[in-house]
Amino acid sequence: IPNGSGLPARSNGPAPTGLRKGLTAYGDTDFSIFLRKAFIKGAGYSDDALDRRIVGIVNTGSGFNPCHANMPQLIDAVQRGVMLSGALPVPFPTISLHESFAHPTSMFLRNLMSMDTEEMIRAQPMDAVILIGGCDKTVPAQLMGAISADVPAVQLVVGPMVTGSHRGTRVGACTDCRGYWGRYRAGEIDIEEIGQVGNELVPSAGTCGVMGTASTMACLSEALGIAPLGSACAPANSSQRLRVGELIGKLAATSLPRPSEILTKKSFENAITLLQALGGSTNAVVHLLAVAGRMPGVEVTLDDFDRIGRKTPLLVDLKPSGQNYMEDLHKAGGVPCILRALAPLLHLDEKTVTGRTLGEELQRQPSAWDQSIVRPLSTPLAPGSSLAVLRGNLAPGGAVIKQSAMSPALRSHRGRAVVFKGTEDLTNRIDDPSLKVDETSVLVLQNIGPKGHPGMPEAGYIPIPRKLAQRGVKDMVRISDGRMSGTASGAVVLHVSPEAAVGGPLAAVQDGDEIELDVAARSLRLLVSEEDITERLKGITIKPTATRGYRKLYLESVLQADQGADFDFLRACADE
Ligand code: FES
Ligand code: MG
Repeated sequence: IPNGSGLPARSNGPAPTGLRKGLTAYGDTDFSIFLRKAFIKGAGYSDDALDRRIVGIVNTGSGFNPCHANMPQLIDAVQRGVMLSGALPVPFPTISLHESFAHPTSMFLRNLMSMDTEEMIRAQPMDAVILIGGCDKTVPAQLMGAISADVPAVQLVVGPMVTGSHRGTRVGACTDCRGYWGRYRAGEIDIEEIGQVGNELVPSAGTCGVMGTASTMACLSEALGIAPLGSACAPANSSQRLRVGELIGKLAATSLPRPSEILTKKSFENAITLLQALGGSTNAVVHLLAVAGRMPGVEVTLDDFDRIGRKTPLLVDLKPSGQNYMEDLHKAGGVPCILRALAPLLHLDEKTVTGRTLGEELQRQPSAWDQSIVRPLSTPLAPGSSLAVLRGNLAPGGAVIKQSAMSPALRSHRGRAVVFKGTEDLTNRIDDPSLKVDETSVLVLQNIGPKGHPGMPEAGYIPIPRKLAQRGVKDMVRISDGRMSGTASGAVVLHVSPEAAVGGPLAAVQDGDEIELDVAARSLRLLVSEEDITERLKGITIKPTATRGYRKLYLESVLQADQGADFDFLRACADE
């Protein structure tokens, strides 16, 4: 068949790849490829370009996503890498989610993004796919979608932002956003100064510069083996970020395993080990449960997080658990530096995206140098269990607390509940001078779980009531079925499961009830008799509903936090 006819140049060649993948046959395969080629030639391609391995590149750039503002440059670098290795790069868009521009919450849309990612990878002809993401929900959504599609895939993150400077102090989104806003609320700084801070908190493209959810998920992608070692931490605006892009392009052009060939229970255990050593985001617990839930035959539960946490010390000195920023971790050697320190606790024989094992990849990394960001196992920042899993009659399905970022004095605490029925009730009353509350009270926020407030907002970080904040109270025990930002800290019990809106015991808590938190015993108890709890729950009938659209699909399908808040129909089937 003469080249240029639109028909495959190598019709007797190797197994179909490139444009021949996933052909819709109108009962005539050759006609289908003829049509497909005719159309894509409209974009100016030659046969030489088209008769190659095709690498899809997921473009999540958006005018509403400043975290991904380096996307055009990064895609250029990736395309260069793909072409240097002789394949054809084809970028395509999917949904993009930014934390501040995704109403009602980005979490509400994470599963939608995962469906978009999965189905566009399936629908379009590609031999491999490069997932470019970064802002909080994007990496988990991409991993969930790519696992379900199971096309050879690699994760590339946009990289963290650099730090800014306010009156000589380094600042960065978004632990410092909260710190400065707290000072503004308390009247310590004025409106002019808070405006100046706002100009410095996000001084470049890239994801939040602390160990929030975006940084945590970027680092965990390396530990899972789905991103190359050393790819998570280079800043978004650095030349190294572009070299990482080029390298990943080359990798995808030549060979790449499928997610199902890399991700095992052990690779998730490696990721959980790193999560604990990072003092990483509590959101990563929900995301990892959702990502693992997409893998047939891999069962990861909340108990895995607690079990691994008990033997994994906190090694990384980054905000909010410590003092530094992502650019400091990059300069200290990034994730390979942490994994080297953690080596005795890792499964080093796990396969990674390069085809080599984690152990082999670590050997290939530059040797370590003196630095103060990543501690050795022998002198950690804290002994273990940065993230602890609590259970008890208030959270039979589990709850999560980040004890590396809370006041130690509150780890064992008994106090009386001050209950808020939802976010509106909280907004209306938290600063009311007549609110019956003192520093020993336990603030309880109901109905912000996956169904109760669709999207499970990051409202679990309940503010300290103004009258107490002004007296200098910095931390209190707070309990909810919602989430909190990975950049926040405090004695905040999150993801209480089952949630209040589906009749979980959290719904039974009333003002004045005694609640006991004992982190060492991993216990969260409502000191009310089981009969009374059952009786109180009988009267509660909150059933959030929607009549149409994605919200209806969401409410009918979303699972509880202990199953990653994925949709029931998206999780892997047991017999797959
Ligand atoms: Fe995008 Fe923080 S807002 S990572
Ligand atoms: Mg966040």
